[in-house]
Amino acid sequence: MNPETERIRGCLAAVREISGFVPEVGVILGSGLGAFGDMVRRVAEVPYSMIPGFPLSTAPGHAGRFVFGYVEDTPVAVMQGRVHLYEGYDVSDVVLPVRLMAALGAKILFVTNASGGMRPDLEAGNLMLLTDHISCFVPNPLIGPNPDEVGPRFPDMSEVYDRDLRGIVKGAADRNGIDLKEGVYVQLTGPSFETPAEIRMLSRMGADAVGMSTVVEVIAARHAGMRVAGVSCVANLAAGLSPTPLSGEEVIAAGAAAAPKFQALLWDSIAAMHEEEEA
Ligand code: HPA
Repeated sequence: MNPETERIRGCLAAVREISGFVPEVGVILGSGLGAFGDMVRRVAEVPYSMIPGFPLSTAPGHAGRFVFGYVEDTPVAVMQGRVHLYEGYDVSDVVLPVRLMAALGAKILFVTNASGGMRPDLEAGNLMLLTDHISCFVPNPLIGPNPDEVGPRFPDMSEVYDRDLRGIVKGAADRNGIDLKEGVYVQLTGPSFETPAEIRMLSRMGADAVGMSTVVEVIAARHAGMRVAGVSCVANLAAGLSPTPLSGEEVIAAGAAAAPKFQALLWDSIAAMHEEEEA
């Protein structure tokens, strides 16, 4: 058996010992955004430490557990905390939780993160709907023997962020009076923030916001056939665009400040995704 397939099966078996819950939507909460997990009508909780071989998050602001439960009628698996490449994990570890959520039954991945804004109209505290991404600065999680049971060798990436799901998120933004920006996200490994020269380069390449997560997870999700929606919380203006130096503390604080509107957007979007599934 493909080693990744074997690993996913081991994780699935461990979770199934704790809960038989089948999520429809998998949710990854970014830095400083973990509080959303506490709003879910909780059915079960699985600490990552109880899943053999599962990567443990060491980043500040990441709790390290799955919350299984409901957002209105939508069954969700919420990741309170994710792992990042900069923690030293292999990319296969970083995407394992996504593959596990797919194996648990999730058909949709809703991914969130904190980012640095690079486009002139972006301000700290804005929420930005991901329309596309740039992956070429991070290792591709699909390199290696292809787990054929998970997905194809050469998955299409021409519409990574599902058009219908984007419509749902925009509708939720309208209903909540949220000025939702849209743009292209680029992932770098971190953990150092970018230099101003790097930001100028990324901006000219067509990226609008930069961060240290998400893209590798989304590639794994698309490979596994999940539909994907993504929202970034612009935590700061990227290097060279802001008069103050960047810090991890600033990112967490910006996430916390944006939390109320972020939670409203996520809640309404995910609730609507269930209706859409049934339609
Ligand atoms: N750069 C990279 N990652 C980030 C940033 C940034 O400016 N802000 C939040 N995450």
